[in-house]
Amino acid sequence: MEVVKSVVSFMCNSEFWRMAVLWSFSLIFSYLKLFYESLFSQESKFQPRCSLKDSIFSTALVARPVCIVTGATSGLGAAAAHALSNEGFYVVLVGRSSELLSKAISEIKSRNHDACLKAFEVNLSSFVSILEFKHSLQQWLQDSNMHSSVQLLINNAGILATSRRFTCEGYDDCRMLATNYIGAFCLTKVLLPLLESSPVPCRVVNVTSFTHRNVSFRQADRETISGKFFMKSKDYPYARIYEYTKLCILLFSYELHRKVGLMKKSQHLSIVAADPGAVQTNIMREIPSPVSTMAFAAMKLLGVLQSSKTGVSAIVDAALAPPDVSGVYFFGGKGRSLNSSALSYDAKLAKDLWDASCNLFEEEQVAAQRDGNCAVGNDE
Ligand SMILES: NC(=O)c1ccc[n+]([C@@H]2O[C@H](COP(=O)([O-])OP(=O)(O)OC[C@H]3O[C@@H](n4cnc5c(N)ncnc54)[C@H](OP(=O)(O)O)[C@@H]3O)[C@@H](O)[C@H]2O)c1
Repeated sequence: MEVVKSVVSFMCNSEFWRMAVLWSFSLIFSYLKLFYESLFSQESKFQPRCSLKDSIFSTALVARPVCIVTGATSGLGAAAAHALSNEGFYVVLVGRSSELLSKAISEIKSRNHDACLKAFEVNLSSFVSILEFKHSLQQWLQDSNMHSSVQLLINNAGILATSRRFTCEGYDDCRMLATNYIGAFCLTKVLLPLLESSPVPCRVVNVTSFTHRNVSFRQADRETISGKFFMKSKDYPYARIYEYTKLCILLFSYELHRKVGLMKKSQHLSIVAADPGAVQTNIMREIPSPVSTMAFAAMKLLGVLQSSKTGVSAIVDAALAPPDVSGVYFFGGKGRSLNSSALSYDAKLAKDLWDASCNLFEEEQVAAQRDGNCAVGNDE
């Protein structure tokens, strides 16, 4: 009886119908666009994968390029860590639970004995945890006699939280924004010196979603990105927040791509976005299980549901594309890319988002220094 009640109350919420209807439309729209462009587009939107031997990431200085995968304990992150370890990367798995990290490492090792793997416990919704990660990573690189740099950062961790939850720190009143966007922004900013010191081309891959196409709302100020704006609604607008986080990650990718073009020391850094499509993972863990089972069944019927092994191909395509590929949105696997929504290319919105995110970042740095949580900003 309790299950029926929870399913009915979940389905009576407009956010459920937003997910069921608008998300399905945006997914189908993306595939139709891909199909249309494959028939009629003049310029090729196909990017080949470079293997590590002939690739951008390898020289005598960096025998094994280092790749960081966030959210590597489940779904697409775990699949990406496995696929990239097969490609010859030293994969750094980032996750919240040491138990799940050990499990992910054992699973990869059981399929690839030669995999080089290292795990770090990090909570991406905590700025202090991100700073601590940077210091532990630097220490590990030094202790292992490896070049003090990172070649590939995959910002994959993400959640679909259906109820309000707050994080311990002030900048993130909404855990979904904190994990899906602010965490990725702060991690990238904090690791930028390690990416820039790479002697070979390096890359950031940001994992986004087709759901970003449903956002029409042009606001990227402090109140919005900290979640306060969304918290004003009587009902928690979880579907709208999720879509918004995925738009933010795209705006951030394109803005960083533009900025890198202007910065001399970052010339060999590229930034791309990857959208895996619909994939059967644990992302729907907070949705009542009869509803998520129905949703997966419907997507399967439409022929759009993929396993993590197939869905990860857009992420691997993005990671292994040639070094000059930057500011591109990968979708559909097989090296294919698309244009994301018109709003995601809005340079003014991207600049507003960048400025608001940098303000949050600086406030967090000051707070971390004040509270003596970590040695901050020594190496900028
Ligand atoms: N599945 C899809 O259909 C789909 C479609 C488009 C885009 N995506 C995107 O793909 C990415 C991966 O999702 P998934 O489908 O693989 O989901 P998943 O199976 O739920 O995996 C999410 C991963 O993120 C980690 N994570 C969550 N919160 C974290 C935090 N605060 N700090 C560190 N790690 C955290 C989780 O760790 P724990 O195990 O500790 O929770 C888990 O490893 C997400 O960004 C998602 O938005 C997914």
